[in-house]
Amino acid sequence: MVSNTDEILEKGFLSYPIEEGTDLVAEINRLKKEKNAVILAHFYQEGVIQDIADYVGDSLQLARAAASTKADIILFAGVHFMAETAKILSPDKKVIIPDLNAGCSLADSCPTADFAEFVKSHPDHLVISYVNTTAEIKALTDIICTSSNALQIVNSLPKDQKLIFGPDRNLGNYIKSQTGREDMLVWNGACHVHEEFSLEAILDLKKEYPDAKVLVHPECEKPIRLIADVIGSTSALLDFTKEHPELDNFIIATESGIIHQMKKANPDKNFIPAPPKDSTCGCNDCNFMKLITLEKIYNSLKYELPVIEMEEELRVKAEKSITAMLDISNKLGIK
Ligand code: 13P
Ligand code: SF4
Repeated sequence: MVSNTDEILEKGFLSYPIEEGTDLVAEINRLKKEKNAVILAHFYQEGVIQDIADYVGDSLQLARAAASTKADIILFAGVHFMAETAKILSPDKKVIIPDLNAGCSLADSCPTADFAEFVKSHPDHLVISYVNTTAEIKALTDIICTSSNALQIVNSLPKDQKLIFGPDRNLGNYIKSQTGREDMLVWNGACHVHEEFSLEAILDLKKEYPDAKVLVHPECEKPIRLIADVIGSTSALLDFTKEHPELDNFIIATESGIIHQMKKANPDKNFIPAPPKDSTCGCNDCNFMKLITLEKIYNSLKYELPVIEMEEELRVKAEKSITAMLDISNKLGIK
């Protein structure tokens, strides 16, 4: 089995020079065919990467695609926990990610030792964790959820079942407000991108576009959720734009990569990225997601590196909580 090289372990990705004039899109498509590989891309990737992917989706859709693919190699154009989820669900496949530095501030806000201690001190609580977590956190979890199914999964559990929800405080508090489960214990983690949106700037935009609908991801803070017309996962927000031909203007309070699919589905509509608090930082772009480039995808596919590696014992423990999510989602008919 090929393992990650010293260069990858040091830098996180391969930086082999690429011959000038290489048609990266054509070469990537050729390599995919030659190696029976698929590219799974999250909605937060650059448009050009979404367009070369075999499957584009949100976390839940991509987990399902990873579990069912017949390909030999899965190249994950997304962040590390997503590639790890693919490896957990498809252990016999080679799973590669073009840059191991593509992490996630939300996953980082839940260190394993602290979460393990928290779980241990509440032995009568069922643990629900958002998919934006490391394999180690998944192994400490009973049921994984994503923003597409978190509400329904919590609602499907007996009202008297005590719950821990981690790691996203905003999604957790949103679920509390929707389910009335005031005693649910919520881990104090967050995503730096979704906590950056400016209420003031969105309200200013609403003055400029009074008919605009505000579409908000549940990882956003409460004041932003309170002015939302729709709160949902990236795929739910995308679906809303497709289902409302009568609307012209949308303010998008989530990572701006999703606008690529919104525009493709509705070329004549106006999608305005919700501005961040610091208007100069461009921080409604996830810097981790944007580490993935066409050049890195090309090298990654060509050399089949960096690979996601995982101890089998950890994989098996983590798999149980993801399988629980997929089973409940299928039973509830969640897309
Ligand atoms: P989705 O579940 O909507 O794909 O969100 C994933 C994510 O990373 C949000 O920041
Ligand atoms: Fe993680 Fe936030 Fe980036 Fe999503 S947008 S991958 S939660 S850092």
